[in-house]
This record gives sequence, C-alpha cells and structure tokens, in this order.
Amino acid sequence: MDAFSPKSFLSLLKLRGSEYAYSSEQVPSELLDEILSCAQYSPSYLNVQPWEFVLVRDRQRISDLVGCAKYGHFASLPNAIIAVVLKEGYWSEEFFRGIKEKKLGFYESFLSAGMPALCMSLAATDLSLASCILTPDNEIAKRLLNAKHGDFVPLMVGIGYSAVSNKAPVGSRKPAHEVFSFELSRNHLHEN
Ligand SMILES: Cc1cc2nc3c(=O)[nH]c(=O)nc-3n(C[C@H](O)[C@H](O)[C@H](O)COP(=O)(O)O)c2cc1C
Repeated sequence: MDAFSPKSFLSLLKLRGSEYAYSSEQVPSELLDEILSCAQYSPSYLNVQPWEFVLVRDRQRISDLVGCAKYGHFASLPNAIIAVVLKEGYWSEEFFRGIKEKKLGFYESFLSAGMPALCMSLAATDLSLASCILTPDNEIAKRLLNAKHGDFVPLMVGIGYSAVSNKAPVGSRKPAHEVFSFELSRNHLHEN
C-alpha cells in the first residue's frame, strides 16, 4: 500500500493538508464530479442544504478568487476551485416561520458550510489530489461568481495536483492532553 492509499479514515485525515503549490496538470472532470458529489451528500442543519457549489476552471477567475482569500501565499494556482455559496433566503424569517429561534438559519447555515468544504478536501486527498480550504472576501467572491446580492460565500476549496512530490503529511496538532477531557476518568468508568 503506497502513501496515497490510506488504510483508515485517520490516515486519510493525516494525509490531507493545505496545499499552496500546484502543478499545471489538469484535474480530469470526472474527479471533480466525484468531489462535487461529496459536497452534495454533506450534512446540513434540518437537511436544508442552504448552498450551491460553483465549479471554477477559468485560470483568471481562479487567480482572482485565490487573490481575495483572507490569507495564504500561493506559489502556484490550483487547477480548479469549488466555492460554497450560501443562498439568500435560508436565514430569512419567512423561511423559518413557526420556529422560535429566528437566528437559527443564519448561524446554522454558516456552521453547515464547513461540512462540504471538509468533505471536498478529504475527497480530493482520497483521489490523490491536493487541496486548500480558503475564506474569500465575500463581496469580491460574489462578484466573481455572479452570486446574488444576499448570498454569502463563506468558503471555497482549491483543488489540483501538488507540485511537491513526497509531501510530508499534515502539520502539527495540539497534543491529546490539551484538547481532550473526559467527564469521568477512564479508570472510574472501568471501576463501575
Ligand atoms: C474554515 C477554514 C477557513 C480557512 N481559510 C483559509 C484561508 O483563508 N487561507 C488559507 O491559506 N488557509 C485557510 N484555511 C486553511 C487553514 O489555515 C489550515 O487548514 C490550517 O492551518 C491547518 O493546516 P492544514 O490544512 O495543512 O492541516 C482555512 C481552514 C478552515 C477550516
């Protein structure tokens, strides 16, 4: 099994990392279709699916989108970008008539946006592609994507082949003792 055949979900997660240097190799459209399907099957609050996904392959538009990301220095551009566009209306009061929490749709739409972004990024890794999740400037991204005034573009995913061969797996993460805690100690659980 080579480095690009993950044995487990954890291996796949560890293999994924943000890529900032892409080769000029074209990503076949069938692979992008598969990545789009992974976005389509992502979970969302109340299964509202408050989004549309815009696939961008035009080089100039990719450059402009990458250029409006909040941070990140790219040595070379990804071959494709898929933007998560949250559609206006999913956080309107009319849509949530009868639901007590009026702000539900707004917060939950934004929370939901991360789901397809991660699914697409992991799908890319699974297909031996590189990727990077990016936060665009909303107003610039909306203009570049011909989105509506009330839409929001919280995230986009750059996809391509890495320009770096034998890339090291994912960067450092906080140690387990800093991020995990247990309501009851494991010993206590075993005692009962
Ligand atoms: C919601 C979200 C937004 C992000 N926005 C950006 C961004 O605007 N620019 C960028 O270069 N990376 C962005 N990233 C990538 C993170 O910086 C990156 O995932 C983090 O540093 C961990 O590195 P890794 O992806 O290589 O594991 C974003 C990641 C997430 C989850």
